[in-house]
Amino acid sequence: MTTAYRAPGRVNLIGDHTDYNEGFVLPMAIDLACTATVERRGGDQVRVRSHDVAGDVEVAADGRDDPLDVSPGWGRYVAGVVRVLADRGRASVGIEATVSSTIPVGSGLSSSAALEVSLALALLAAAEMDLPPLELAQACRDAEQLATGVPCGIMDQLASIAGRRGCALLIDCRSLAVEPVELPKELAVVVVHSGVARSLDETAYASRRAECEAAAARHGVTALRDVRPEQVADEPRARHVVSENARVLEAAEALRRGDLAELGALLSASHASLRDDFEVSTPELDALATALEESGAFGARLTGAGFGGCVVAVAPRDAAVAVAERAIASYRAEGGCEARAWHVHAVDGAGRVG
Ligand code: GLA
Repeated sequence: MTTAYRAPGRVNLIGDHTDYNEGFVLPMAIDLACTATVERRGGDQVRVRSHDVAGDVEVAADGRDDPLDVSPGWGRYVAGVVRVLADRGRASVGIEATVSSTIPVGSGLSSSAALEVSLALALLAAAEMDLPPLELAQACRDAEQLATGVPCGIMDQLASIAGRRGCALLIDCRSLAVEPVELPKELAVVVVHSGVARSLDETAYASRRAECEAAAARHGVTALRDVRPEQVADEPRARHVVSENARVLEAAEALRRGDLAELGALLSASHASLRDDFEVSTPELDALATALEESGAFGARLTGAGFGGCVVAVAPRDAAVAVAERAIASYRAEGGCEARAWHVHAVDGAGRVG
């Protein structure tokens, strides 16, 4: 008998480059997902095939294989998950599994977090082990870091695990408290891929994080979360983090009040801050965000790490498709790439299916 585990991707409504500064984020788990189907359990090897990417992956079930030595490249995530679970006491039980994903790779929609979480659930079940949700998220975040060398934060894995149908998740990345915030019925969340794959430029992400840590040290605090706006008025990187944290809290409030115009304005302000202060946007992401705003969205911003990938927009529900179509047409007319849009819905977090 086969068992399958499904983990959703996520789109971040607002709050980027804040998670590793112990700040706030407002993502939602979306109806694009990775599914890991276990065909056989036992033995001492973890063998995984992908429906979407070439090359079979095989690693030792005890976690001894160094993720960075594994090929094909996507096998690094498999090895990363196997290793972090072994470190947390998972018995060395092999599986044969197939993974299949509807999340576009390299888009900023957390295809890798969904792969890690779905596989982790499959591996834990095979070894009859359970991890509390927060530990599972931390383990998968550690797996991502091992597999990529990028010092990413906790948002993606936690959003995939803690998702709630119909809700965005206000996450305090210091306490890791997750508060679901209901999305108003008249709100549509549209994700548009710029057509330029994100190269989560390891150096740029890591160097932004290092700049934030250096700024926190200069101000004598453990994380930029604890710095006041007036302290960083002349420091663009830190200014982004501090202003973005405030916008996340205001956006959660705007959602609760159903104030969609205010929510949109906050998204657009976030994009400007990521573009000008944090400098992680691209001309394509800027053009697409503007096209969405001019096509009737309440607001739009790059989502995730930046450097390519997707823009998220909030729009009136009954106009979502028209807004996306108009924006894609004008983006193309202005010389942009072939863009693709999804009207996404907030779904429950990862779990067993079937
Ligand atoms: C990537 C990382 C997250 C977060 C975002 C930026 O998605 O994996 O931890 O830092 O970038 O907000």
